Amino acid sequence: MRVAVAVALALAARAGALDNGLGLTPQMGYSTWNDFRCDGLTADAVKRIADRIVELGLATLGYRYLNIDDCWSRELSPEGLLVEDPLAFPEGIAALVDYVHERGLLFGIYTCRGTRTCALRPGSKGLERHHAAQFAQWGVDYVKEDSCFASNEHEQAFSEYAAMRDALNSTGHPLFFSLCGWNTWYAPRGAQLANSWRIAPDCDEWANVYVAVRTNEALARFAGPGGWNDPDMLVGSHPDAAVQLTPRQVQTQFNLWAVMASPLLIGSSILRMPGSDLATYSNEEVIRINQDPLGVQGVPVWSSCPPFAPRDNWWMAPWTMPQDVARMWTRLLSTCLVAAAALIALLARALRFTRGAAPAVHGAHDPILLAPVATDGSTLADKAPSPALPRARAAIWRYCVSRGCLAAMLVLLALLSLPALAMLVAIHAMKPRAEPCQQVWVRPLEGGAAAICLVNFAPDVARIVCDAACLDQAGFPLGVHVRDVVARRDMGPVQSLDMDVPGDGGSFLFRVSPRD
Ligand code: GLA
Repeated sequence: MRVAVAVALALAARAGALDNGLGLTPQMGYSTWNDFRCDGLTADAVKRIADRIVELGLATLGYRYLNIDDCWSRELSPEGLLVEDPLAFPEGIAALVDYVHERGLLFGIYTCRGTRTCALRPGSKGLERHHAAQFAQWGVDYVKEDSCFASNEHEQAFSEYAAMRDALNSTGHPLFFSLCGWNTWYAPRGAQLANSWRIAPDCDEWANVYVAVRTNEALARFAGPGGWNDPDMLVGSHPDAAVQLTPRQVQTQFNLWAVMASPLLIGSSILRMPGSDLATYSNEEVIRINQDPLGVQGVPVWSSCPPFAPRDNWWMAPWTMPQDVARMWTRLLSTCLVAAAALIALLARALRFTRGAAPAVHGAHDPILLAPVATDGSTLADKAPSPALPRARAAIWRYCVSRGCLAAMLVLLALLSLPALAMLVAIHAMKPRAEPCQQVWVRPLEGGAAAICLVNFAPDVARIVCDAACLDQAGFPLGVHVRDVVARRDMGPVQSLDMDVPGDGGSFLFRVSPRD
């Protein structure tokens, strides 16, 4: 029943989808970002990767998009066009696109709706038509548009993404559009804007996988053929890639991405892919679940996890923080700077007046200047002859010690570091953590079947049971035929699923179908 409602809601939310005919199932491929970052991204490397994707049989399995991410471009030409890094791409992007196409793959490229990309390369703000035309002319098939150095105000973000969508449409060349805004608030508008939309921060450690999954729980109704929630790339286990998971976590991320109908973009070393990652990513039965033509995103039907409220991910790029947070932070920063400047002025004056002063002074003390004052009202510093440097230093030091200006300097240091510290504490407090809990996810599949994923986010092994009530929610009131698609093992008809699931990111993925 619950599943039928989910299907109806998903179909209703699809009305008015971006109509470029692409993304009928979630996109599959590879992205350079988690493999290279900006280091070593060259045409030669991309060509080797294209060859390897084919050799490993990944292309045949559906991994067709080879996407270059940030750091391919160097500058804007005087006409506003993107210019590739000439050392890394000496023959230009078009030649590379041809090479990739000749291997039977599709080519993806990256840009940003801001003035700069997240790695400070030129962005597409206001130049959408120019850049879309450029991509189409090069024969590019896929465009990812990031959100750095851009406003975090929702309507503005939507209209900037709409500008790129319209620019891509106007080229007449079919270009898959991947919107990368790292926030849930894109989901309700996602299908009108793009073929997929990032809903959560970068997935670059296990805790982020947890956050992406929990974030995606409430967004199932927005996904469907043509437009998908994107919880980010698959993280492999190769130690040379920029980020990695354990092999068990790699499998679990893959299982969850299958039940969540998420894009399958490998974000790890293709050239030196570990056997376990290759085995995981090559499992056709899991891929079949991910690519199910019904296109319904799964939902958790049972969970022991605490309530989860996704955050606004402005901290991914602090310069895009919401205006109220920016106002608070700049107020703190300016107060600290003004206080620090006042303190510096006081100290400077105090030290100037003590230049060459004798340590032992009889007389009053100027309460503001903190300088010794002679009985005629002038400071002794006024009368002292210009001293030799060492004497002056010794005097300043003695003055500091006796008058507590060391303490003042410490206060100064604290004032100067307070805003930076506040930012660090905020970022630390927001650092994602995986809760020690378990979930059961169900995804309805074509032909009345379903996928069921049992996942354990806790460090230790946990027993997870999907009993009759749980199966009922999946649309199977009685016994079902169960197949463990990871172990590729038929389990026959069962009344309930009752498994010991390993800790630290263990999971099972089953395909269930009604009893004959
Ligand atoms: C952001 C995106 C990543 C990647 C980098 C590139 O962090 O979320 O996927 O594209 O930018 O700088």
